[in-house]
Amino acid sequence: MAMTMAVSLMVMLCAFTVVVGEPSLSESDKILKLPGQPPVGFQQFSGYVTLDSKRKRALFYYFVEAEVDPVSKPLVLWLNGGPGCSSLGVGAFSENGPFRPNGQGLVRNEYSWNTEANMLYLETPVGVGFSYDSSNSSGYEVVTDAITARDNLVFLHKWFLKFPQYQQRDLFITGESYAGHYIPQLAELMVQFNKNKKLFNLKGIALGNPVLEYATDLNSRAEYFWSHGLISDSTYKLFTSACNYSRYVSEYYRDSVSPICSKVYSQVSRETSRFVDKYDVTLDVCIPSVLSQSKIISPQQVTERVDVCVEDETVNYLNRRDVRRALHARLVGVRKWEVCSNILDYELLNIEIPTINIVGSLLKEGIRVLVYSGDQDSVIPLMGSRALVHRLATEMGLETTVPYRVWFEGQQVGGWTQVYGNIFSFATVRGASHEAPFSQPERSLVLFRSFLKGNPLPESF
Ligand SMILES: *[C@@H]1O[C@H](CO)[C@@H](O)[C@H](O)[C@H]1NC(C)=O
Ligand SMILES: *[C@@H]1O[C@H](CO)[C@@H](O)[C@H](O)[C@H]1NC(C)=O
Repeated sequence: MAMTMAVSLMVMLCAFTVVVGEPSLSESDKILKLPGQPPVGFQQFSGYVTLDSKRKRALFYYFVEAEVDPVSKPLVLWLNGGPGCSSLGVGAFSENGPFRPNGQGLVRNEYSWNTEANMLYLETPVGVGFSYDSSNSSGYEVVTDAITARDNLVFLHKWFLKFPQYQQRDLFITGESYAGHYIPQLAELMVQFNKNKKLFNLKGIALGNPVLEYATDLNSRAEYFWSHGLISDSTYKLFTSACNYSRYVSEYYRDSVSPICSKVYSQVSRETSRFVDKYDVTLDVCIPSVLSQSKIISPQQVTERVDVCVEDETVNYLNRRDVRRALHARLVGVRKWEVCSNILDYELLNIEIPTINIVGSLLKEGIRVLVYSGDQDSVIPLMGSRALVHRLATEMGLETTVPYRVWFEGQQVGGWTQVYGNIFSFATVRGASHEAPFSQPERSLVLFRSFLKGNPLPESF
């Protein structure tokens, strides 16, 4: 008894010393005010976490505390895909962060996810955005899924040293596109780490238009194009028999595109046209180029988009010196901040590594999973995601707990949903692009809120 008291007193004293003895480690990362920012009541932080003892490799983060009562709200990590695209530029400043660049300043995003959670945006892997690797002056070495997951784990581990008050907080990881690889792989490492020493209080993951099993995901594109009138009946037949999309991508990244695939793919490209946004087939082309994040999923898309989209407010904003200073960001080894990295050398064939099986092992650990789909996206269409979720639920013997039905945001249908075993959910977001929170912010916020609470989506209005 006395012993226990002495020990806990010691712990308290140590904690006390830290608080009194030195300023909190997060203090120097605090953002006083972003240029052009409207006044707000929540705190923002940004800066670097170094990954190695020589401090040559570092990841850049932007952290926004919850608008109201941050102490009672969970911690949510957000990751964009690519691989190589920025969670700061795409996620925070175009999708679900508190501000969006507008002219010389920033405007509030009414549907910011920090109304529900403390949001942590991470530019990963090294070489993306303001994150850097200065260990080799002759350039970047190849980065793989495994390296990315390990670095992300080290980042979070060290980030908790800056923000110890968040270590025990309920933790969720969310993101989209190629983050369908990053997130399950990071979560898996956390689960392994926790077996030795419980550090990550991981409660759930949410994956938007994610790559989970590349053949299923990529090949649903043919049906999407065809059913939305982007390709003809005869081209659909070729694109599903002579050469399907997963085969094309697989050949493309091995530098060995066969004559038949070359023929089929140019026919598909000609019919779909470059003047339709593949990330939202109902949109005209010039949505901000900041929203491209599918380097490997749409190999030829990235260059196409540059032609048609000239101006981009986020790119301009994040390249201002005063903004960089306010963010405590530096340009290391690059001349400017880019939405999607030009220096990152990613192992693109890693797209073929399935992550749907990792999702299965996370569910077995009791970690909640939501897979959601902006239903206007042809890059990772809803049909592939829905089929993968259903297949995994069936394999695991998870019964349907919420049958396929509509869900509501306000008085309108926000999309469709199905839940398996009260732990594994699928949902579409009606009228949303590949970047659902960008194009359907209100519906996406309802989805996010339900996910955090572990509730099914609203059944009525
Ligand atoms: C640095 O990068 C170059 C080119 O990628 C590579 O050949 C070399 O082995 C790297 N050096 C070190 C010390 O890793
Ligand atoms: C796609 O093509 C590959 C290679 O020809 C084939 O193995 C696979 O079954 C095809 N998938 C679909 C969905 O057609």
